Amino acid sequence: MAIVGNDVQLARAFLLEGKLVAIPTETVYGLAGNALNPASVLSIFEVKNRPSFDPLIVHSDSIEKIGEFVTGFSAKALDLAKTFWPGPLTLLLPKKNVIPDLVTSGLDQVAVRIPDHVLTLNLLSQLDFPLAAPSANPFGYISPTSAAHVMAQLGEKIPYILDGGESGVGIESTIVGFENETPVIYRLGGLAIEDIEKVVGKVRLMPHSTSNPQAPGMLKSHYAPRKPFFLKSREELLHISDNIGYLLFDGSLDRKELHHKRILSQTGDLKEAAHHLFAHLRELDLLAVDEIWAERAPDHGLGLAINDRLHRAAAL
Ligand code: TXA
Ligand code: MG
Repeated sequence: MAIVGNDVQLARAFLLEGKLVAIPTETVYGLAGNALNPASVLSIFEVKNRPSFDPLIVHSDSIEKIGEFVTGFSAKALDLAKTFWPGPLTLLLPKKNVIPDLVTSGLDQVAVRIPDHVLTLNLLSQLDFPLAAPSANPFGYISPTSAAHVMAQLGEKIPYILDGGESGVGIESTIVGFENETPVIYRLGGLAIEDIEKVVGKVRLMPHSTSNPQAPGMLKSHYAPRKPFFLKSREELLHISDNIGYLLFDGSLDRKELHHKRILSQTGDLKEAAHHLFAHLRELDLLAVDEIWAERAPDHGLGLAINDRLHRAAAL
């Protein structure tokens, strides 16, 4: 069973041995291993039960260190990196050979980011290798935003969980790549498109697809609770049943007759809603209800990423 604690030295010792450690980030918890050690990377796929065609994000604590394993940053990539790192932004950049093919599922580009969490930055600063880390959940299930979430599902498979409290942002990083010079969003996430466009101008949004080999994390059915999960209109949500768990965006549809409910943000604040999304989904999944019904968020800012996760949870 995993030890849970905030001992960066112990986490480091396990990683030096090639073992895996769950790490806190501002987005979600990661399942981390030495990105330059193919055996460690392989065990990430095994522990997560993840198909090997779904590539991993590599985490580091400085742009200089990232320069050791990517061939370079374009001007726009560097602008984004300097503006938003550490933070919920992942960049797709051309990789050097030191990054094992297993990390990128054979692609020429590697996904990289500098996470914004004091414990994990401290850990990374004491390692001479970057950390490959997917979200620390079994493949297809809801991403973890606390050490307890990781413990519940991967506790028996890893030696250590570095506990950094609740993830502040609460949804995964926004993934940005480039086609020629145009920034392309491959995954909506914790950094809003509007903020990205302020720095690099108009971006292109990659349409979702179930069979897109470029970014398998875009698989349609993903982030899903175990219970049947449905997106409902506001009219439909007026139907009251004790067999239903309700995930409400804000307080406006709340009534005392709804016995099993979670509200993402009473006031409809998008950041607060994103922060609560995965924890609330997990809680509803554990309640004595037959189905979960959810309401969409408004389609702007982090609402786009929230709706993306809701749609994919509903796609089975
Ligand atoms: O916020 C996050 O990004 C979290 C924390 C732990 O950093 N990590 C995360 O990793 O969400 P994961 O493995 O759950 O999602 C990684 C996704 C892949 O499914 C894929 O869509 C994309 O990142 N990706 C990774 N490497 C890629 C590559 N070389 N080319 C295209 N897409 C890539
Ligand atoms: Mg994931």
